[in-house]
Amino acid sequence: MIDISKPAARPANPRFSSGPCAKYPSFTLQALEGAPLGRSHRAAVGKDKLKAAIEETRALLGVPADYHIGIVPASDTGAVEMAMWSLLGARPATMVAWESFGAGWVTDVVKQLKLDATVKTADYGEIVDMAALDYDTDVVFTWNGTTSGVRVTNGDMIPDTRAGLTICDATSAAFAMELPWDKLDVTTFSWQKVLGGEAAHGMIILSPRAVERLESYTPAWPMPKIFRLTKGGKLIEGIFRGETINTPSMLAVEDYLMALEWARSAGGLKGLIARADANAQAIFDFCDANDWIANLAADPATRSNTSVCLKFTDPRITDGAAFAKAVAKRLEAENVAYDIGAYRDAPAGLRIWCGGTVETTDVAALLPWLAWAFEAEINA
Ligand SMILES: Cc1ncc(COP(=O)(O)O)c(C=O)c1O
Repeated sequence: MIDISKPAARPANPRFSSGPCAKYPSFTLQALEGAPLGRSHRAAVGKDKLKAAIEETRALLGVPADYHIGIVPASDTGAVEMAMWSLLGARPATMVAWESFGAGWVTDVVKQLKLDATVKTADYGEIVDMAALDYDTDVVFTWNGTTSGVRVTNGDMIPDTRAGLTICDATSAAFAMELPWDKLDVTTFSWQKVLGGEAAHGMIILSPRAVERLESYTPAWPMPKIFRLTKGGKLIEGIFRGETINTPSMLAVEDYLMALEWARSAGGLKGLIARADANAQAIFDFCDANDWIANLAADPATRSNTSVCLKFTDPRITDGAAFAKAVAKRLEAENVAYDIGAYRDAPAGLRIWCGGTVETTDVAALLPWLAWAFEAEINA
C-alpha cells in the first residue's frame, strides 16, 4: 500500500498563480495608504509617483539611461500591441512563437496587420532556434513562454549590428531573469507578473533605435489614440516622464511603487533572480526525484525559473487532462495551491509560479502535497 496520508504542513501562502502573481510577502492593504486617491494623475503628486515608477524601474532593471520607459494602457498586451502596430511594416518581420502568447502575436501580425511575416514556431516544451533568425528583419519574440515554461537562455545570438528591431515580450521574465538591454529594442511587461502588482498597466522600454524608427516611419494603417507614441513625427516625450496617454489607477501605481521598494530590500534584481532560481530549483529537484512527473521544457537550459510547467508521465494515467485537473482541484480544495492548472491552450499538466514574490519555504511545503495529490488521484 502506498502511504497517502496528508503532509503535516501547508504552504503559508498557497498562491502560485502565473498572473496575477502572489503579492510580495510583506504586502498589506495599509501599505497603499500613500496613494493619492481622488487626485488628478496630472497634479504634481500624481506625476511624481508615475515618474518615480519609471525611474525606480530603470534603477532596478538596470535599463540604460538613453532608453525610454513608459507606462501604457492595457497591461502587457497593450504594450506589445502598441509596439507592433507602431513599428512593424517598415521592413520584413520575423514572428517567433513556442507557446500561446507568442502565437497570439503571430496571429495579430499576420491576420490583423496583414504583414507577410516569416513565422517560426516550435511545439510546447521546445524552443525556436533563435540563432538561426535573420536579425536584419524585425524580430518579435517572447523571452519567457509563460504557458510552456520555456525561456530564451541569453541574448548572445542577437547581433549588435542588426538592421532590424527586436521586440521582446518579457512579461514573465522582467525582474526574474537577466535581460540584455543592448540586444532588445522594445521590451514589454506588466505589473501583475513577477512583482505581484496589479493588472491593467503595461510598461514599454524603447532603445534609441526603436525611437529612431518611431520618428522616421509612419505605418500605413490607422493608429488608435491608445497606441500613439508620436505626434507630428516626434516621440511624445511626456509619456516617458509619466504623462500617461490616458488615466492610470493611482492605487495600482502606489502598489507597484511598494513592490519595487520591497524588491530593493530583497536584494534588487540579483536578489529577485536568486529567489526565483531557488523556487524553481526546488521543483526541478522534486522532478528528478520522482519518475511520475517531469518538466515540460525538453532542454534543461531553457527551463523557466518563473512559470515552471510540469507534465505527469506515469503510464497508469489514461486521461492526462482530467488527471492534471483533478490533482490541481485536490490541492486547491486543501488550500495548498491555487491556480496551478496548466494554461488552457497548453498540454495537460501543472504550472507553478516561482517568481521572486513566492517564498521558497512555500514551494518546499507544496511539493509533498503534490506527491500526496498524485497518489490520491492514482488510487482514486
Ligand atoms: C508571455 C505573455 N504575454 C502576454 C501576456 C498577457 O499579459 P496581460 O494580461 O498582462 O496583458 C501574458 C500573461 O500571462 C504572458 O504570459
